[in-house]
Amino acid sequence: MKKTITVIRGDGIGPEIIEQALKVLDKIGEKFGHSFQYQEILAGGAAIDACGTSLPPESLEKCLRCDSVLLGAVGGPKWDGVPKEIRPEAALLGIRSAMGLYANLRPARLFPQLAGASPLKAEIVEKGIDLMMVRELIGGAYFGEHRTVLENGEETAHDDMTYAEHEIDRIARRAFQIARKRSGRVVSVDKANVLDTSRLWRKVVHRAAAEFPDVECADMLVDNAAMQLVKNPSQFDVIVTENLFGDILSDEASMITGSIGMMASASLGDGTRGMYEPIHGSAPDIAGRDLANPIGTILSAAMMLRYSFDMDKEADCIEQAVNAVLDAGYRTADCMSEGCTKLSCSAMGQRILESLF
Ligand code: IPM
Ligand code: MG
Repeated sequence: MKKTITVIRGDGIGPEIIEQALKVLDKIGEKFGHSFQYQEILAGGAAIDACGTSLPPESLEKCLRCDSVLLGAVGGPKWDGVPKEIRPEAALLGIRSAMGLYANLRPARLFPQLAGASPLKAEIVEKGIDLMMVRELIGGAYFGEHRTVLENGEETAHDDMTYAEHEIDRIARRAFQIARKRSGRVVSVDKANVLDTSRLWRKVVHRAAAEFPDVECADMLVDNAAMQLVKNPSQFDVIVTENLFGDILSDEASMITGSIGMMASASLGDGTRGMYEPIHGSAPDIAGRDLANPIGTILSAAMMLRYSFDMDKEADCIEQAVNAVLDAGYRTADCMSEGCTKLSCSAMGQRILESLF
């Protein structure tokens, strides 16, 4: 099969981790007889430096004309002062919205080999963590009207948070479909005791749930969910929630696994095309030093094969290789522990490449 992948190396450690993922994809292509063609685009800080804006129109155009997008990371303190419309983050939001990627899938899994790296107590972690955060990605406060105005003689900021029924319905259905392939349990997270958007969220989620009688659906308030994630994370399988709550809870969920550098994500719409990126950011403090963990990006490439290209065998192959390398005790600096062998970013990529069977 031939696939065109739009590649955004981005900022900070982005270029280093993408390099490793592309090596792995090339080898998979060779092994399974696919041809992956890459079209590189500028987005984020690198695009601000080169063209004065974080998402040049020709970059967006290429995201809309490809089979999927693979992104390293964008942003960094260098661009903190730029106007909000052209900040590196604006590129990310612009691509998500223009591609219609309303469903953000963020699996948080405790790798048994790394159980010791979790900040949670051993007795909590030993029950395992394997959950899928399904975050609504192109609605809510992120995409409402933002304005700062003078009111009654002082600056006053507004961020409008809006959800329409169809926006809730489609993400709820996506979560139920995912749950069907997992344990069949969904927890819908909201703040229905305070927010109208959450009350509508709950109503629409329940209505959609009625069409999935085989899936168990429970509601949880977001403050309680934040607490339950550290108290008893193994109770969760699929969590579905709105954009801002999902942003916060997905960082929490990945942190409790102890290995944020390993976590991948997929952003999907109604078609097969998606955008894939590691959960972690651009880590400017370690950029360019060959220290970063490339596994989150490599596993994101595996998610791309599975979700957008229907290449399950190929995705399994990558995931097994990552597992084998961890089993053999190889670690990058972020999750190094005693008795393990420390590898650079490129050496880790190479190990995984050599373990693709
Ligand atoms: C994420 C990030 C982004 C978000 C930022 C960089 C705009 O935190 O992907 O979770 O808030 O969605
Ligand atoms: Mg975030």
